[in-house]
Amino acid sequence: MKVALIRELSKENIEKVRRCGVEVVQGVDYDADIVLVKSRIDNFHRYKNLKWIHTSFTGVNNILTNEVKTSKVIVTNSKGNYGTQVPEHAIAMILAFNRRLKEAFIAQQNKVWKEFDATELYGKTVGIIGLGVIGTGVAKIFKTFGCRVIGTSRNIKKNRYVDKIVPIRSLEILLSESDYVVLCVPLTRETRHLIGKKELEYMKKSSILINISRGEVVDEKALIDALKKGKIKGSGLDVFETEPLHKKSPLWLMKNVIITAHYAGVTQHQESRAVDLFCKNLKLFLKGKKLINVVDKEKGY
Ligand SMILES: NC(=O)c1ccc[n+]([C@@H]2O[C@H](COP(=O)([O-])OP(=O)(O)OC[C@H]3O[C@@H](n4cnc5c(N)ncnc54)[C@H](OP(=O)(O)O)[C@@H]3O)[C@@H](O)[C@H]2O)c1
Repeated sequence: MKVALIRELSKENIEKVRRCGVEVVQGVDYDADIVLVKSRIDNFHRYKNLKWIHTSFTGVNNILTNEVKTSKVIVTNSKGNYGTQVPEHAIAMILAFNRRLKEAFIAQQNKVWKEFDATELYGKTVGIIGLGVIGTGVAKIFKTFGCRVIGTSRNIKKNRYVDKIVPIRSLEILLSESDYVVLCVPLTRETRHLIGKKELEYMKKSSILINISRGEVVDEKALIDALKKGKIKGSGLDVFETEPLHKKSPLWLMKNVIITAHYAGVTQHQESRAVDLFCKNLKLFLKGKKLINVVDKEKGY
């Protein structure tokens, strides 16, 4: 069985894969039976023996091309590996807004001693769209800060960290009640531009939108317009419709925007967690057993 590792890995992690009892090649190999990729697979049609694609990411929107969807190749993701660091990123962005850190950094660079009015999180309402692994991680942190947490889901009726769950068709309730809205849904046919002009209008003028999911979940044009017109107070964005974000995007220079370059999930543990999960799955695969985290190609996550 040949495994192609189409992402950089440390020597130690490559060895871990090899110890599962497979032939390991680094980089693209069109004879591979299994590939470990980051977030996309190029030239899928050239693979002759491919049986399984595993991504070390959770989002599979770039992998699920029509060719992949209609093939028998299994797709698995690394759902479960991002429930700590991505929620931490969301909270970091919100605290940065509340504690006025962007302005403080600028003042520091200019050696200006200036007090800013800060905002406490305590007692605020946080709306979480998508109560999966990351959404639940976000809810758990906000609960410890003394926030009221609202969430949307299609299936879940209860979550121990969420005070109120509203159905996704009643999204406007969550949007109009929340001081912070955090997007935690996968990008699918249904969630593309889930947040557009109409939804932004439901939000409070004092509210902040955090996107740590996928850029296309938000209509970026509508968001820029809402931020310019003061329809919402600010936005923390780790993901964008086009990445890297185009140099001409007005988002770069907006005072009420915090931009990070899609690294919410990338920490010192990301690679080893990804390889451990892959190896666990590889052992199941070699025994002919059911894999963990098989993606529903139709649902898109
Ligand atoms: N910024 C980063 O670095 C980074 C890192 C990791 C992941 N992500 C993104 O975050 C996403 C979520 O990750 P996760 O680990 O939390 O995945 P997950 O556990 O699969 O959770 C996704 C949740 O979204 C909900 N959902 C799906 N479609 C929906 C819809 N149309 N309306 C309402 N809810 C919907 C699902 O609920 P039901 O199944 O109950 O409907 C599920 O609870 C990933 O897909 C990825 O795109 C970003």
